[in-house]
Amino acid sequence: MNETKKTRKTGTEELPLMQKIVALCKRRGFVFQSSEIYGGLKSAYDYGPLGAELKRNIMAEWWRTMVHEREDVVGIDASIIMSPKVWEASGHVSGFADPLVDCLVCRARFRADKAPQVSPGETVEYRKEGKTIKGVAERGYVCPECGAVELSEERQFNLMFKTNLGPIDSDDNTVYLRPETAQAMFVNFLNVQQTYRLKPPFGIAQQGKSFRNEITVEHFIFRSCEFEQMEMEYFCPPEEAPQWLDYWKDERFDWYIRLGVKKENLRLRPHDPDELAHYADACYDIEYRYPWGWDELEGIANRTDYDLAQHQAASGKKLTYFDPQRVNPDTGKPGMHYLPYVVEPAAGATRAVLMFLVDAYEEEPPSEGRPDGRVVLRLHPRLAPIKVAVLPLVKKDEWLTGKSRELVKAFWRNSINAFYDEKDAIGRRYARQDEAGTPFCITVDAQTREDGTVTLRTRDDMQQERIPLEDAVDIINRKIRDS
Ligand code: GAP
Repeated sequence: MNETKKTRKTGTEELPLMQKIVALCKRRGFVFQSSEIYGGLKSAYDYGPLGAELKRNIMAEWWRTMVHEREDVVGIDASIIMSPKVWEASGHVSGFADPLVDCLVCRARFRADKAPQVSPGETVEYRKEGKTIKGVAERGYVCPECGAVELSEERQFNLMFKTNLGPIDSDDNTVYLRPETAQAMFVNFLNVQQTYRLKPPFGIAQQGKSFRNEITVEHFIFRSCEFEQMEMEYFCPPEEAPQWLDYWKDERFDWYIRLGVKKENLRLRPHDPDELAHYADACYDIEYRYPWGWDELEGIANRTDYDLAQHQAASGKKLTYFDPQRVNPDTGKPGMHYLPYVVEPAAGATRAVLMFLVDAYEEEPPSEGRPDGRVVLRLHPRLAPIKVAVLPLVKKDEWLTGKSRELVKAFWRNSINAFYDEKDAIGRRYARQDEAGTPFCITVDAQTREDGTVTLRTRDDMQQERIPLEDAVDIINRKIRDS
């Protein structure tokens, strides 16, 4: 994999960054390989205690800013299994496919459009049966594993997982696991618009699992067969679509920046006409600089009226919106039915988990008092799985442990995820929290008994200050709110 070439400096060892992230995820309980005790299942991952919190926090932040804090967007939570007619109308049954190729030398199976590119007609060298041989690259790409040009024909491979609804395995009851959350918003367009009396422009948002039988799964949780999406379909008058595309691309880019992602690691890239999806008129990718290079994080597309028109034609149900004020060009009078255009910001929640982890990961070199340096996850406080760790300095002192546990409960009562830890020396406890991305630690010690103060230690600068125990909840609350 390319990522083995990219490294970031560490104190003693020089491991590729992705390997370090994967190791940290396992060590601290962010992400585990699925079914690990059975040897694992390729491309399937389980989110451990910290990963589950991080993913929930990312999704909650998205919901807060995209749904709760807007008058023009509402949310739904639709079924994963929908009528197969949805996927026929949307074009997924006939067109949601990747070009699949087998390498005839090493047997690797890969996606033609993701394979390393070479000039058609170029002579390349690769190893076959222990010998180096030369071959001409007729297709413009080579096998990603061994570089060979001896390849099978390209076959179109549909990415949707099929299953059967009911006990009989027959073509009559084939259903699909949704490959995107978006279609439920289109087929519920009028239900939502009418019950909420919405007038375009307005959006319908949804989060949840999607499934794609990906040919190549890669880079840990970046591309997997089961993943989570956060999508919003913004229905607007057709002529307003370009301006809303412009608005949403900036809004979504800024969302990541507000959550602390380094600006130099994010970019907006307009799609070339030949890479647009079958439904899109224009599209931007928000790309992140992952350890293996720039790659997609989120797409923002102008889907035109493609989906509503397809569902209207296939279902025979009118999906137009009636605008009493809009002048109908045919009659010259107010009152017009039209199919809205749709601008769609489509983000991956599980992919965002990886991106936030990579961006937050830092190794600090050894310093005085920290001979081993430290690994710290500088996660934004709103995203951090644990907001505050409460640490009694001495485990055997019941007064200290009792006060600490009381404080933890006070945080919980205020919906702040606090964590109690009395194991090991205080330095090791801080180190564990740094690796978990916990922005604040509070230590209860002998001085607390004397003057009612505790030590507040901040993850990012490791500064310590004394604060009154009784103000701790308010102070942490404010720090998270204002971050
Ligand atoms: N409704 C449009 C749509 O689904 P997409 O670009 O195919 O567009 C949107 O997917 C986002 O979903 C991607 O930008 C990515 O973040 C995430 N995503 C797509 N396929 C994924 C996979 N196999 N594993 C993880 N995330 C994926």
